[in-house]
Amino acid sequence: MNTDRRDFLKGTMWMGAVAALSGCATAAKSCGTGCMSGFAVAPIKKVRVGVVGLGMRGPGAVHRLASIPGVEVAALCDLFQDRVDAQQKWLANKGKPKARSYSGGEGYKALCESDLDLVYIATPWALHTPVALYAMEHGKHAAIEVPAAMYLDECWALVETAERTGRHCMQLENCCYGEVEMLTLNLVRQGKLGELVHGEGAYIHDLRELNYLDPKKGGYQGYWRLKWNAQHYGNPYPTHGLLPIMQAMDVNRGDCFDYLTCVSSAQIGMDAFAKLKFGEDSWEAKLHPKCGDMSTTVIRTVKGRTIMVQHDVTSARPYSRINLLSGTMGCLNDYPFRIALAAKPGDGAHGWMDAEQTAKLREECKHPLWKVAGALAQKMGGHGGMDFLMDLRLCYCLQNGLPLDMDVYDLASSCAVCELSERSALNRGNSVDVPDFTRGGWKTAKPLGIESVDLGKLGIFDVKKDDAQLNV
Ligand SMILES: NC(=O)c1ccc[n+]([C@@H]2O[C@H](COP(=O)([O-])OP(=O)(O)OC[C@H]3O[C@@H](n4cnc5c(N)ncnc54)[C@H](O)[C@@H]3O)[C@@H](O)[C@H]2O)c1
Repeated sequence: MNTDRRDFLKGTMWMGAVAALSGCATAAKSCGTGCMSGFAVAPIKKVRVGVVGLGMRGPGAVHRLASIPGVEVAALCDLFQDRVDAQQKWLANKGKPKARSYSGGEGYKALCESDLDLVYIATPWALHTPVALYAMEHGKHAAIEVPAAMYLDECWALVETAERTGRHCMQLENCCYGEVEMLTLNLVRQGKLGELVHGEGAYIHDLRELNYLDPKKGGYQGYWRLKWNAQHYGNPYPTHGLLPIMQAMDVNRGDCFDYLTCVSSAQIGMDAFAKLKFGEDSWEAKLHPKCGDMSTTVIRTVKGRTIMVQHDVTSARPYSRINLLSGTMGCLNDYPFRIALAAKPGDGAHGWMDAEQTAKLREECKHPLWKVAGALAQKMGGHGGMDFLMDLRLCYCLQNGLPLDMDVYDLASSCAVCELSERSALNRGNSVDVPDFTRGGWKTAKPLGIESVDLGKLGIFDVKKDDAQLNV
């Protein structure tokens, strides 16, 4: 582990005491080991959010959050002042209150120290945990882009800090709010797939162009993703495919990860692409990233279920998160969406449903959140609406004092795969244990229910008039 990061993690321990001593309005009491399952705080009528990181991802979050009734984007921060200014301009154009501005490498500290409820983090991966720890130590809830943590010690630091400070720490896993993923959860809760046995998820997305794109021309700031791929092996981005399966299988709420194994292919695609695009003598062609093109992890749970998670951002193939779940009564699979169900227990499910039956089932078994707010979410956008539903549920839960859909243990278990898959892949796929971040709490924690929102409570009464009400 990088010593600077270890020192940083240690160095944040005193800050909670400072927040408490200074009488920070939002400082909360420690809730104790394992307490974050079902954890909720008192309702926050007006949720004041600070957004850190305004590159490709952050501005969309500013726009979605600022559009939700009872939510104010009260602070903005980026390394670059012009990115902050651009979002201030957007807020002004929409007639929203001006946010406080912060910039520079450490501007996030002043933002976290200011008067806010929630810090929303969309920075490069290496900054996720440091900013979230600083936010919680200063009495703020933290919502962190994926993966929220890249190392095991970061996972533990987030768990322990959330428990000690009594703050929410949620990973912004938007894919849990995809129409197919929520439909799947609904079908599982209705028992349509029987008892679950196996799941498959992935992040298969050809990012070769974007990874090498000059930051000055719209690429990742400082080539952070390319640099990570250059230095690491295994799966650095496991959560999109994994977290929806964890929810369906009740991981951390009735089951728990036990161990995993990971095998990675050679890295072929990035070198070939760089050579072709930039020439043999370019720095790009000479980089030779370590990360194999295709990494395949298999996780086994304590109850004996298996989950395969793949990562491939360098092959010429269409986008896929796979989204496969199979059980004793049926199977479903995405890209394209297909479902096969047994007529009754013990029967086989040898063929996929036809298009008409599939569309009927998809409509009938739509998740209530999609029924209530799907049309609104599609208008608001963000990966087909799932980004908006995620933000809507997050703010709704905070406004109504409800537990969040994803807790810090879900964050830690899914992010632990980053370091553990690398360790396993470097050791010929030998298995490694996955820590139980709930420390036994999974045995009694309640599974995630079928949760929705009451748009009336948010002040949105008529979905047809959303645009006006949401001021978008
Ligand atoms: N959930 C999703 O679907 C999804 C999609 C895209 C990206 N992401 C995640 O969002 C995050 C950001 O990705 P991106 O594509 O926007 O990258 P990006 O490089 O475009 O943006 C990162 C931003 O963070 C800023 N930044 C860097 N250091 C900072 C600091 N010290 N303080 C404040 N700001 C700082 C940069 O200037 C930049 O504007 C990543 O974690 C990524 O994995 C998630």
